[in-house]
Amino acid sequence: MIIRCSTKCSLGIDPRLKSPSQSPPFTSGSLTFPVLETRIYAAMESLTIKKLMDGSRSYFCFLEMIIWALSSHPTIARAAANAAQKHGMGPRGSALICGYTNYHRLLESSLADLKKKEDCLLCPTGFAANMAVMEDRIAIFSDALNHASIIDGIRLAERQHTVDVYVYRHCDMSHLSSLLSSCELKKKVVVTDSLFSMDGDFAPMNELVNLRERHGFLLVIDDAHGTLVCGKHGGGVAEEFNCDRQVDICIGTLSKAAGCHGGFIACSKKWKQLIQSRGRSFIFSTSSPVPIAAAAHAAVIVGKKEAWRRKAIWNRVQEFRALTGIPITSPIISLIVGSEEKALKASRHLLKSGFHVTAIRPPTVPPNSCRLRVTLCATHTADDLKKLTAALSCCINFQDIGLCNSRGTARL
Ligand SMILES: Cc1ncc(COP(=O)(O)O)c(C=O)c1O
Repeated sequence: MIIRCSTKCSLGIDPRLKSPSQSPPFTSGSLTFPVLETRIYAAMESLTIKKLMDGSRSYFCFLEMIIWALSSHPTIARAAANAAQKHGMGPRGSALICGYTNYHRLLESSLADLKKKEDCLLCPTGFAANMAVMEDRIAIFSDALNHASIIDGIRLAERQHTVDVYVYRHCDMSHLSSLLSSCELKKKVVVTDSLFSMDGDFAPMNELVNLRERHGFLLVIDDAHGTLVCGKHGGGVAEEFNCDRQVDICIGTLSKAAGCHGGFIACSKKWKQLIQSRGRSFIFSTSSPVPIAAAAHAAVIVGKKEAWRRKAIWNRVQEFRALTGIPITSPIISLIVGSEEKALKASRHLLKSGFHVTAIRPPTVPPNSCRLRVTLCATHTADDLKKLTAALSCCINFQDIGLCNSRGTARL
């Protein structure tokens, strides 16, 4: 859900707070770009992990990586610790050399099962998974707001002259349909985020399925944000829209709801063979350490079983809607405020009030569509939300909110 809103002029921000860009831009010859900064946090001990420590202060955290709060789950921590004690990090090598163990196989099977697919291929990260899929002689149709890793995968394939690329306007099915109709290549692939990471809106799954029937393309989704969060059993956005069988390839990451690390491609055995023989980011990268594979496997089991997390998160979505009047449709809420300065000011104001809500800026989003991205988490309570919306209302004009999307802003 993308929400464009205006910030209040009297943000109540301490004027002594540093200017938006804390470091001067990087310059070398004709190259100039803003420097993005990292912050150091203490590793979290809390089982709910809804708070982050930065120096001596703690903040309520509304960030995507804690959406499911599994990263500190005792079962998952134990699985990692047991595996580390038995095997250390395990064999270090690419999967095709020596890095593929019974732990990796078990994880693949559990993910294939979760996604109702014949098989699954693990990749070192979700980014690598997207890079590995986009390699063949085909026409690729890609949503304008797809994740950077999908875009880079396509760019790589484009450079090898193996694909023709068509970017359709964000979620615009008539644009996609006309591009498909005018393309003469036989093999067509449509690739889309299932739940858009920067915008919080769902891909129009039903319409995509109808188009797939008409045009016979391969439907590939990046379900990074839907996995474990959507669907009755956590199977993701395809399960939510009851179209698992119509999604041919489901890509995901284990770094979001699963709270671990690594990427995967759930697909048929035939596709797995092809991708593992051609996908460079799979072939030429070391596979995940054994404790990570063990932890991720435990996370998939726990995430499927602990349905209360799904229930809690969707309750929070409803509560946020009721508190703000904003008709959000997912736990990812994108409040577009415009300039970098406005977004950073609002984010700092929230930080001062004890809430960690990141300002998202270019290159992640187009210039002047900088935003606050709020991610609701399974362990937030109704009271946490009340406090957050009170703090948000000091810097965001909820009344001014206009629903829109960043249609047409291709990032390719
Ligand atoms: C939609 C989407 N796909 C892929 C990725 C990359 O996953 P990973 O962090 O495992 O590389 C992300 C990460 O933010 C994402 O949001």
